[in-house]
Amino acid sequence: MTDQATRAAGPVPSPQRAVRDVPDVPKEPVFTTQDLNIHYGDFHAVTDVSMEFGKNEITALIGPSGCGKSTVLRCLNRMNDLIPTARVSGEVRYHGIELYGPKIDPIEVRRRIGMVFQKANPFPKSIYDNIAYGPRVTGMKVDSMDDLVEQTLRRAALWDEVKDKLKQNAYGLSGGQQQRLCIARAIATNPDVVLMDEPCSALDPIATLRIEELMAELRESYTIIIVTHNMQQAARVSDRTAFFTVKVNETTGDRTGGLVEFDRTTTIFENPSDQRTEGYISGRFG
Ligand SMILES: Nc1ncnc2c1ncn2[C@@H]1O[C@H](COP(=O)(O)OP(=O)(O)O)[C@@H](O)[C@H]1O
Ligand SMILES: [Mg+2]
Repeated sequence: MTDQATRAAGPVPSPQRAVRDVPDVPKEPVFTTQDLNIHYGDFHAVTDVSMEFGKNEITALIGPSGCGKSTVLRCLNRMNDLIPTARVSGEVRYHGIELYGPKIDPIEVRRRIGMVFQKANPFPKSIYDNIAYGPRVTGMKVDSMDDLVEQTLRRAALWDEVKDKLKQNAYGLSGGQQQRLCIARAIATNPDVVLMDEPCSALDPIATLRIEELMAELRESYTIIIVTHNMQQAARVSDRTAFFTVKVNETTGDRTGGLVEFDRTTTIFENPSDQRTEGYISGRFG
């Protein structure tokens, strides 16, 4: 769906969210990036991103298509390592530790920092095995797999809907349920952070609302970073919002993604300090 279409569809009905007290800057940053730059071969996709992601907060990354939101997100759990041309420079600290340091194991990074994608991608296995897979392959010490599957599905607000069909194939679930199963799968290995790249763009408004409610619950236990092109969604669910755009070099014509403004979500949407942010959120461009 285009940004224009998202806007035309209007806001999704949403229960009033309790206003959260969001401090000026994150009390405890989980990630800190300093002059983060990301290239794909010769193409400089993202330039000089410096920001913090707070613990038990939901941070939204918004901005027009191609501004580097997914590229930045993938860099936070070293998914860009899997793209041969991708190169990351600058600093990314995770709980103060250099994420791209020589001793860091990318597999362990991806266990601690889970990811959910735009299109629900359950394994072609039973609902039960979708949840049990991660704990099994990572060799997690588990007393009772049945209990772990149940607890995980409960935390993902899916248990009541699937408890009688755990052995059925996950493909039999609705799109929204499949996406909640993917969120459940992401938290089954007990991660610290969940990254979500446009997790609702393939879902209808009701399924979207359920995921947003789930995110609000999960924030109690996890740090969540979400890319969304649905601005109402960013405004509804997130504590802080980072607005990215495509910056064009006037001399060379080169285009690169960059961070324009990062602040509390209420500030970004009600009182942004950069005209480009204002233009984007009021629908004048992007
Ligand atoms: N695997 C890739 N190889 C080469 N270029 C890429 C790759 N992925 C993304 N890009 C380019 O990097 C820029 C940022 O892309 P992306 O992070 O996907 O933006 P967004 O998620 O904001 O739409 C775009 O110009 C895109 O074409
Ligand atoms: Mg993207």
